Amino acid sequence: MRLTAPPRSTSLSSLFILPIPLGLLIIAYLAAVGRRPDIPESAQVDDPHQWGFPKWYGNRPTPFDYRSTSQGEEEEICDHPKNVLLFIDDSPQIPSALTLHSSITSSNRFNLTTISSFSPTWNSDLLPKENLQNAGCDQFDWIWKVGDDSGHADLGCGEGKVIRVEEGMRIPGRANVSLLTQPHHILKPEHKHDALKTTHGEGWELGLWTHVLPSSYPRPKIFYPSRRITNRRSIVYFPLRTTATKDYPKLPWGRTWSIYSPSRRSPPSPKAGEDPFSPNSRWRKFWLKEEERLAKAMRDAGICLFEGWQYGELDDRIAKAMLSGCIVATVPPQTHHDAFSSLILPLATPSSVSILPDLPVDNLNQLLHKYTNSQLQRLTLNAFISARNRLVPPSRLKGVESAVHIWEDGGRGYDFKEGFRWDCDSGHGGWCG
Ligand SMILES: *[C@@H]1O[C@H](CO)[C@@H](O)[C@H](O)[C@H]1NC(C)=O
Ligand SMILES: *[C@@H]1O[C@H](CO)[C@@H](O)[C@H](O)[C@H]1NC(C)=O
Repeated sequence: MRLTAPPRSTSLSSLFILPIPLGLLIIAYLAAVGRRPDIPESAQVDDPHQWGFPKWYGNRPTPFDYRSTSQGEEEEICDHPKNVLLFIDDSPQIPSALTLHSSITSSNRFNLTTISSFSPTWNSDLLPKENLQNAGCDQFDWIWKVGDDSGHADLGCGEGKVIRVEEGMRIPGRANVSLLTQPHHILKPEHKHDALKTTHGEGWELGLWTHVLPSSYPRPKIFYPSRRITNRRSIVYFPLRTTATKDYPKLPWGRTWSIYSPSRRSPPSPKAGEDPFSPNSRWRKFWLKEEERLAKAMRDAGICLFEGWQYGELDDRIAKAMLSGCIVATVPPQTHHDAFSSLILPLATPSSVSILPDLPVDNLNQLLHKYTNSQLQRLTLNAFISARNRLVPPSRLKGVESAVHIWEDGGRGYDFKEGFRWDCDSGHGGWCG
């Protein structure tokens, strides 16, 4: 007996009938999907891997954004803005000085005038002090100095009247309010009171030494995340702009790792008579382009690893990455430790801290093996939310204003901010010798 039936000839009509139930199924499916209730935002914040990113992610604003006033309330119109003279030195601080410049300009609490050693009004035959005098510096409420090419020379303006704020200084301490790049720099031996007295000479008085968190511009300006799925496990190494190409570390073989090369060009000098800080100056456009290129690289990367990761320092590169949806792999920062350690991929401190340690390839592979995709996506979103709240220019500006208030109320000395801690595990800095 034959058990197999002879092949049936497929009737032509069945070929046409088959797609009908299939089509009905597709229609039913689409109808069901269309009527599906919206996914609650809290579920998305909790597990973006499962439920997709909330709709504000990569668009603005978010419900978590920093606001200087309580929600819904307009910032009151400021009748007496502080007159600020911002003095920017040509220095590695330039991109962040431009962020500062924009944030003061857009605040109604300030009336800003900017001067720099490459402004058309600057006379390089004169001392910085004399240039500031020509700019009428004693008429201002604040002089805010960024960067330090002219040494720690006394700016000598409006003694006893003008409040001086400084940041990014090689040798801080001349100003009434000194903002340190890292809070633990307070502990440097050369920042001891006696050492400062020796540096700054007779008559020097200790002002207020403090720190405010770094910041960078979120969307629509520059740094914002992509809603497209990036390969969460692709790692981009970001060297410093000042590091020569020949000193870049060797990347492991494969497609997971890549390196970002900042442009080698130096910024164009402003055209004769052109204010470098005017929105259309070519000098400013150059920096904007550079930042946009960097932002795109961060947006397309899964994990951002910065030169200097071994020091565990929170800086504006980390702010930029978090705002761009890139997970930062770094030794957990000692300062702001509790607030930020859960927002990064925690690398182990290398056994010896050298200037250019080997890339933490094994360490990162182990971490990526341990973290699920879902955990990684949640990390991205949590870091993004925190950065939009704490690492944006308006929140930094508020931080500086409150430091000045402390100074005005008689606050002098070393201001150990909340969350400040420093142990000697990382083997450098502070009182660790
Ligand atoms: C803003 O600053 C400029 C330059 O110092 C000054 O001429 C002007 O009067 C200031 N405006 C206000 C409202 O203080
Ligand atoms: C700011 O500090 C300088 C230098 O210590 C001091 O001479 C000046 O009086 C201070 N400013 C004010 C407004 O007191």
